[in-house]
Amino acid sequence: MRVPTRRRCANCGASLRARDRFCGSCGTPLESAAARASASTESASLQVPDAARSSLGEQRKVVTILFADLSGSTPLGERLDPEDLRTILASYFNELARQIRRYEGTIDKYIGDAVMAVFGAPISHEDDAERAINAALAMQQAIVHLNDDLERRYGVRLSLRIGINTGEVVAGLLAGDVQTAYTVVGDAVNTAQRYEAAAPPGDVLVSASTRRLAIHSFEFEETAPLTLKGKSERVVAYRVLRRRYEEIAPEAAPFVGRVAELNYLRAAVVDSVEGCGRVVNMVGEAGVGKSRLIGELRANLISGIDGITVRCASFEVNTPYALIADFVRGAFSVHAAADEATARQAIADGFAALGAPLEDSSIVLLLDILGYGLHSTLAPEVRRRILVKLLRTLLRLVSQRAPLVLSAEDLHWVDAASLRVLSELVADVPTLPCLFVTTTRPGWTPPWQSESITVKPLEGQVARELIESVFEVPVDDNLAETIIARTAGNPFFIEEVVRELKASNLLVERTGQVGLVPGVTVPVPATLQEVIQARLDRLESEPRRVLNTGAVCGRTFWVRVLGRVLPDIGLQPQLSLLEHESFIELRTAAPEITYGFRQVLIQEVAYETQLLVERRRLHAAIAVSVEALYAERLEEFVDFLAYHYNRSTDDKQAYRWLLRAGDRAKELFANQEALRAFRDALARARNAPDVRVALERMGDVQTVIGKYDDALASLRSALAKTKAEPAVLARLHRKIATALGKKGA
Ligand SMILES: Nc1ncnc2c1ncn2[C@@H]1O[C@H](COP(=O)(O)OP(=O)(O)O)[C@@H](O)[C@H]1O
Ligand SMILES: [Mg+2]
Repeated sequence: MRVPTRRRCANCGASLRARDRFCGSCGTPLESAAARASASTESASLQVPDAARSSLGEQRKVVTILFADLSGSTPLGERLDPEDLRTILASYFNELARQIRRYEGTIDKYIGDAVMAVFGAPISHEDDAERAINAALAMQQAIVHLNDDLERRYGVRLSLRIGINTGEVVAGLLAGDVQTAYTVVGDAVNTAQRYEAAAPPGDVLVSASTRRLAIHSFEFEETAPLTLKGKSERVVAYRVLRRRYEEIAPEAAPFVGRVAELNYLRAAVVDSVEGCGRVVNMVGEAGVGKSRLIGELRANLISGIDGITVRCASFEVNTPYALIADFVRGAFSVHAAADEATARQAIADGFAALGAPLEDSSIVLLLDILGYGLHSTLAPEVRRRILVKLLRTLLRLVSQRAPLVLSAEDLHWVDAASLRVLSELVADVPTLPCLFVTTTRPGWTPPWQSESITVKPLEGQVARELIESVFEVPVDDNLAETIIARTAGNPFFIEEVVRELKASNLLVERTGQVGLVPGVTVPVPATLQEVIQARLDRLESEPRRVLNTGAVCGRTFWVRVLGRVLPDIGLQPQLSLLEHESFIELRTAAPEITYGFRQVLIQEVAYETQLLVERRRLHAAIAVSVEALYAERLEEFVDFLAYHYNRSTDDKQAYRWLLRAGDRAKELFANQEALRAFRDALARARNAPDVRVALERMGDVQTVIGKYDDALASLRSALAKTKAEPAVLARLHRKIATALGKKGA
């Protein structure tokens, strides 16, 4: 008979029962046995890739340390059998470990409900701080999804606190009580743990050193300073807000070519830093690489230069001040999901820090622009004047604080109100340390003086470099030429075609180069739209539905909203798949998980290829979900709801929200947008009183903008729809008289 040997915990040596998933003595997870089988040298406190083991002498090095602590398991423990609790905790820890590995961190040890990971030892990457933060955000996000499931089953959620610090440690194989393990020790480790202990549940708190290293990739918010054990001075702490918008995706192909364009932009930065601001517009077709150029420029700015990127979206052309709001948010790091009090504080503090404390009425005005209701009591045209003054001050102070690269993307979709304000701001740029870069598709020219760069498709060798880097192997001449000819050198088109080819069975390898199987012709569709469509068509029905719904929602979308619209789909695996296939990318993990389309064109195609009836249904479902989820703050969603209901078949809601959107626009003196909203509302009005109201509001706006004939026509039609309502009749007659008077004047 064979006597089974008892297993022992690798961390503390305690003996284990056969079915244990965690060490009963020190809590080290044992569960990941399956996962660990793949990485041969891993043990509970030693997860070092083979290749690195030989060089494991003791050394001093700068690393980034991450502590993540799972809390809330006590109430769960009261409700569950310990065995089940361990299974659940193991699934959480497996997920955390997976995210750490994904960013090539090393799991140093498990301590109770916490895990410690090191980025930068044994193997250093130049971006270890960023990797740690990326892993932290991914961990928070993964927890939310596990929690959804846990809550459904047991009504409990666990929360994760994460602290990160970068500093010098001694790394190496250090002898412990039980065994020798690769680990890192030093003050920096204890400090990281302190940040974790101070982090609010669900948040990621980092030290100043970590923040400095990752400042180009993430946005941070300063929080209350911490006291460290044994130290008298308090240290600053920063909360990670989000990944910077559409910075270059980590999985993007290495940048190729564009030497002249980048040099041009860099020279413009140099001039701007010296106080001779420049205004540059980049023109190019979709996918040609405009955003990437801005990303490269920003990623390589020397420290001390700030970058703010704002962007327009096709569905926001009717949202007054959408772009300007983006600028204010960017200047003060006000998250789109921030509540009003937080936004108010950020704006007040932000202006105060710039040395220009604001009066309350000005703060209110900016909050109005950001969409937090309409509180300003000033007359609309006065507001506009004050707003322009405020923004000019803001631009001046922000660029005097540190030279600024301000980029505004996709201006062909700019809203009229923002455009007017921008035109006034641009006039100041030449005298400020500010480079203002815009991007547009051909056919749209900014209404101000600017230098123009045409971004052309990639050619010859440069295009080939991109092809090979996306293929990850050299390709033969024939294949390279075929792809370049079909894509006309558009980098996005190249990426999509190569992805398509890689998934096909049309390739063979010959002497280290990849080529086409003899005799086949590449079934490459003729347009970029078609190639995206082909990739979409290959998706299974579930991920396709997720992507379609996201596309109807917008260029970025909230996972919570999707969850309501698609209750029958387990979202996380589908989102991971779509992310893996480069359709979408994570935009924010906290306070709300949002994803965005990796490229605008993917959203456009995913939207346009859906049947109209289906789109209408989704627009309505999304609007209904947003109304329910954000019920206490619908003011912020007025334009969003008007946009979506207007594309649904629900006349009543469309009318209601369009009217509100029109009112809001009118109050902001965005008269074009107001008129358009009221006109759309009129089209959705289904009874005489509604028609009357919409017409009267149109008449009001037309009077304000001096279109007296139009105003008279609207007001008279409104009159014709009015029955025995003396007050309304009197009011309309008075308005008609006013319009007539002004017209005659
Ligand atoms: N010079 C380049 N080197 C490598 N990849 C590039 C280059 N230019 C563009 N790309 C890639 O092509 C895709 C489309 O570029 P993007 O900047 O989004 O285009 P646009 O903003 O003009 O629509 C992106 O995935 C981007 O990373
Ligand atoms: Mg772009």
